[in-house]
Amino acid sequence: TSLHDFIQHLPKAELHLHIEGSLEPEMMFELAKKNQVSLPYASVEEVRAAYDFADLQSFLDLYYAGAAVLQTEQDFFDLTHAYIQRALADQVRHVELFFDPQTHTARGIAIATVFAGIARALREAKAQHGFSGTMIMCFLRHLSEEDAIATLEAALPLRDAYADVWIGVGLDSAEVGNPPEKFTHVFTLAQAMGLHLVAHAGEEGPPAYIHGALDVLQVERIDHGVRAEEDAALMQRLQQTRMPLTVCPLSNLKLCVVKDLREHNLARMLRDGLCVTINSDDPAYFGGYMNTNFIATADALDLSKAELVQLARNSFEAAFVSDEQKQVWF
Ligand code: HPA
Ligand code: ZN
Repeated sequence: TSLHDFIQHLPKAELHLHIEGSLEPEMMFELAKKNQVSLPYASVEEVRAAYDFADLQSFLDLYYAGAAVLQTEQDFFDLTHAYIQRALADQVRHVELFFDPQTHTARGIAIATVFAGIARALREAKAQHGFSGTMIMCFLRHLSEEDAIATLEAALPLRDAYADVWIGVGLDSAEVGNPPEKFTHVFTLAQAMGLHLVAHAGEEGPPAYIHGALDVLQVERIDHGVRAEEDAALMQRLQQTRMPLTVCPLSNLKLCVVKDLREHNLARMLRDGLCVTINSDDPAYFGGYMNTNFIATADALDLSKAELVQLARNSFEAAFVSDEQKQVWF
């Protein structure tokens, strides 16, 4: 239909994409074979069948198991390159991708290997396609703050070599029981380094975690944030400050944050004037990339063309790029 064509051609920025979550089962099998990593599945079909999640943790267990096939700089390049091809096809002009170095360093992969492979793909895409891509290094919140600080320190020597692409830090993994306050010191350090700050909050965790991310960690965007709606004062604050929420509709559906996409609060928040954006989170696991998320959401929530334009506009408003660059894109 014409609404789907309209979505297809709309320029967008993607601000909530875990690069390890773009690992398609086909590449998982190829890399497992090449790197001689054994997988608990016999076939691509078996992997896809396992993608039936009850909650965030049931997804994270598979996501970390799958990431074990990533070993070399070329593997991280190939992973990122494949994502960029999907992004280009969906008219994504800019991505600020998340990556989880602790998932890899825990297996003996050097953090420099992770940076090098991802950055090479981003730089190549910029040169070849004018595609803009930057990196946000996430700390795993189920691990200790000491581990996060050690990760930031391990990345410090890479700062200059990756100044063009590494722009910020984030916080992901198991939310409930791991509140933002646990990471106060490492976020203070990152802020002092001039890095941008974001955090997952209010996906499964309560609105208090969104307050904590804003007031204690001083983040500039909230990843997910859908549980903000339970707190009227918080909603008003998010609206008045235009604090961006990087919402991931198909992720919320697959992880049972919502029962049905028609019950998703994205449209209500958009119509209330919040700076909400649409993103794919972990597209290989959750059923699709950017335009699949846009189309499913537009259909379920009866979004108008004007609302779709506003969502795309919000994605550029919320991006960590100059106002001049935003005007070129939108
Ligand atoms: N939430 C928390 N951690 C994650 C996610 C998510 O949606 N995706 C990958 N790691
Ligand atoms: Zn996420």
